[in-house]
Amino acid sequence: MKPSVLIVDDEQVFRVLAESALAAEGFEVRSAINIARAKKEIDRAVPDVVLLDRRLPDGDGMALLREIRAEGQSAPLFILVTAYADIANAVEALRAGAVDYLAKPVQPTDLLLKVKKALEVRGLRDRLELSQRLVTPQNVEPKSQAMRAFTRTLEQLARSPFTPVLIVGPSGAGKQYAAEALHRYTYPPTGADSSFVDVNCAAIPADLIEGTLFGWERGAFTDARSSRRGLIELADKGTLFLDEIAELPDHSQAKLLKFLDAQRFRRLGGERELEVSVRVIAATNRDVDAFVKAGKFREDLYHRLSVFVLRVPPLAERHEEIPDLAQLFVEQCARRMKKRTVGLSADALAKLSRYDFPGNVRELKNIIERAVILSAEARIEPEDIVLPPAARTEIPSNVFFGVSLNAEGSPPPVDEVERAYVQRVLEHMNGRRGAAAEVLGISYPTFLRRLRELGIDRDN
Ligand SMILES: Nc1ncnc2c1ncn2[C@@H]1O[C@H](COP(=O)(O)OP(=O)(O)OP(=O)(O)O)[C@@H](O)[C@H]1O
Ligand SMILES: [Mg+2]
Repeated sequence: MKPSVLIVDDEQVFRVLAESALAAEGFEVRSAINIARAKKEIDRAVPDVVLLDRRLPDGDGMALLREIRAEGQSAPLFILVTAYADIANAVEALRAGAVDYLAKPVQPTDLLLKVKKALEVRGLRDRLELSQRLVTPQNVEPKSQAMRAFTRTLEQLARSPFTPVLIVGPSGAGKQYAAEALHRYTYPPTGADSSFVDVNCAAIPADLIEGTLFGWERGAFTDARSSRRGLIELADKGTLFLDEIAELPDHSQAKLLKFLDAQRFRRLGGERELEVSVRVIAATNRDVDAFVKAGKFREDLYHRLSVFVLRVPPLAERHEEIPDLAQLFVEQCARRMKKRTVGLSADALAKLSRYDFPGNVRELKNIIERAVILSAEARIEPEDIVLPPAARTEIPSNVFFGVSLNAEGSPPPVDEVERAYVQRVLEHMNGRRGAAAEVLGISYPTFLRRLRELGIDRDN
């Protein structure tokens, strides 16, 4: 989630200078030496910013800019690098859709300033800060005790890049997010690529998983017409993330254990032992202990994996993080949906803070996404925040309020039902109107207005 920059320049001196300046600030940096390579890099992953030289061996950088911009939507921000900063050059660059331009020779401070300014324009700045917190956690302390402990563990683990790690935690708490963070800690941005390979053990059929992980040699099985590298090889000098490890079939568990012990393995049908340097991070939301006791998970593998257990605390144990996370998600969603929402009102935040998020960070993210859709204002208000019904209320789940037919035998009008219902809720909340509004999922002023309209006054 670090903001990424693609440098397109055939001049090595400039690339090295820009790469090191940007990497030191926590950006993910890639480079390309010509237009053709730049296109490939952009196809692979759209960067946030492209630093684009105009004079390239295979054409004018401006052509690339126009082409990518024409493709639309998720176009990166372009900063053009020109030989001289004259007005004509600048105007042409900005007309073509660049956000800024730089003149050579480029000062690193100018470069950083312009890149950051460009990101700021798009509201990505907080993302940068958040990732800087991950890259250099000593700069910003997380707000909750639970996350401070968590970050310290990440830092320690980053220093032993081959130690396997088991990440546990409830669904939606951020296990995958933690795995990616650990990967970034372990391989800080240097411009060199180290891969993070992600495998969901539950999603791959049991009889294919071994081939997927370890690869195969030609002829290993009937359909193996050519040999293939497995994901472990692709993860060399990086991280192999085995999600839902509890679902890994028994025979693959044995092979994984052997690999963990030696960092060596054989492809299926292969004779040669291959050696790689890979950190295995496994994750699960299951109770692996219970799986081991039930004989569904190998005890020896469990011991090997659980030398380091990283527990991602449920969001309920780190309520202090809610405002920062909520703000981050507002900005992400607003950008994606092209809305002008910039944040949350104090009341909206207060409403979130009272909720206990059984679905953890993922649930918070979903709630914010809905709120951004509903919100008409720059700030999200409490009524934009829709909490699931179970959470709205301390009301027992058995029948709370029934509607009976009126004297004429027909169903009562809505106002009448609402009046009775609202009175019943007020009663249940011991007359606390704020709490009743909360339970009903509407804002306090709206609730008061409705009370007046329904003719329910203070003493009811
Ligand atoms: N600290 C964080 N900062 C920003 N986003 C986060 C953070 N933690 C989690 N998220 C986001 O919350 C969502 C859920 O996180 P993630 O997928 O890592 O959960 P999980 O624990 O792997 O869940 P599951 O058990 O269901 O697989 C993701 O969209 C992730 O990007
Ligand atoms: Mg997950």
